[in-house]
Amino acid sequence: MLSDPLRSGEELAERAVENYRENFDSSPEVLSQAPGRLEILGNHTDYNNGYILSIALDLSVVIAAGQEDTSPRRLSAWSSGLNERVEAGLEEIRPAGDSWINYPLGVLREIKKSGSRLPSINLAIESSLPVGAGVSSSAALELATAEAAYGMLGGRPTTPLEQAQLCQRAENDFVGVPCGILDQFSSLFGLRDHVLFLDCDTLDYDRIALPGSEVAVVIADSGVQHELVDGKYAALRSHCRRATQKIGELLGREISSLRQVSLDEFLGCREQIDEEDRRRAEHVIRENSRVLEGVEALRRGDPGRLGELMLQSHSSSRDLFGNSCDELDFLIESATGLPGFIGGKLSGGGFGGATVNLVEQNAAVEFQQRLAEACSNRLAAPARTFLTKIGDGARLLGKPQGS
Ligand code: GLA
Repeated sequence: MLSDPLRSGEELAERAVENYRENFDSSPEVLSQAPGRLEILGNHTDYNNGYILSIALDLSVVIAAGQEDTSPRRLSAWSSGLNERVEAGLEEIRPAGDSWINYPLGVLREIKKSGSRLPSINLAIESSLPVGAGVSSSAALELATAEAAYGMLGGRPTTPLEQAQLCQRAENDFVGVPCGILDQFSSLFGLRDHVLFLDCDTLDYDRIALPGSEVAVVIADSGVQHELVDGKYAALRSHCRRATQKIGELLGREISSLRQVSLDEFLGCREQIDEEDRRRAEHVIRENSRVLEGVEALRRGDPGRLGELMLQSHSSSRDLFGNSCDELDFLIESATGLPGFIGGKLSGGGFGGATVNLVEQNAAVEFQQRLAEACSNRLAAPARTFLTKIGDGARLLGKPQGS
């Protein structure tokens, strides 16, 4: 989409207002902001009704939004990063090819389905999220759109979780990406200096402290573009589904997700499961236990143990789940020897994108430099590293000044 990781939230907001005025000859009504996310533990557990640990980033999408009375009604969206303005009809909402406008458009369609009458809407979009790095700029765009729309039109769902699910439906049903709830949940529920814990079965959640004064977050982008829509993600989901069905048959009981299978049960029947399905299932079942152990480690203030679990998770993604790649493995190997490194892993869908690294705060600047140096000669595209913090979730920033 767009990106300038050095820009602060205030700068993004100022630019969004300026661009709104330039593009739409009027002042915006509201400003909204939604962060990207990183997955700390729980790789591909969300759609298996498992557990996840994640954070919202201090990098985000900011939208200046307003409404207009035009006929026919339409969405008009300006993206600074792409230097592009795209329009799409709101009378009958259909996907606009494979344009990025489908993310806000899909959210507006869901809001319309829930009973709101949509006027014509204008959006000016700014972002500090690195594009294609797997930090979920798409979920950030969806949540920032939803916040802006509720800010202007009212009609917010009864619970925040319903808002996250509405945005997930926009991505699943309209954009056509079969993602779980991780990205939208994290972008909405994020809290500075806290890790999010979600039980994707019961949808119970918690926020557990991880003070930024002690632990920094370094994102290392492999430079390998990852695409959820390209079929690999859907293929992994199919393996998990087949494994679930087979384990149910072998155990002689109805099982609707890998969440319902204990490690002992799995080990007792694993030899009878097709090899690829078996490896995918083993990753998910062990990963769920790692998340629960990670929660305990965080609660007793032991980031060191959390870091070890993250490294185990990365190895499991590489060896059992099959969604790492040479570049991601290289980033984790390079980080492992550096002073201050607590732990790291690939984050999100995999096959590219970024690693998430937890680093002792006082060693973070040097860690980032040394990781970038270690990578500069080895990776096809120059590795981009970002030193960032755990940030707050999506919110309305209120009325822009001067409007
Ligand atoms: C992507 C998806 C998420 C989740 C992760 C893997 O980020 O959007 O729903 O499945 O991959 O944990």
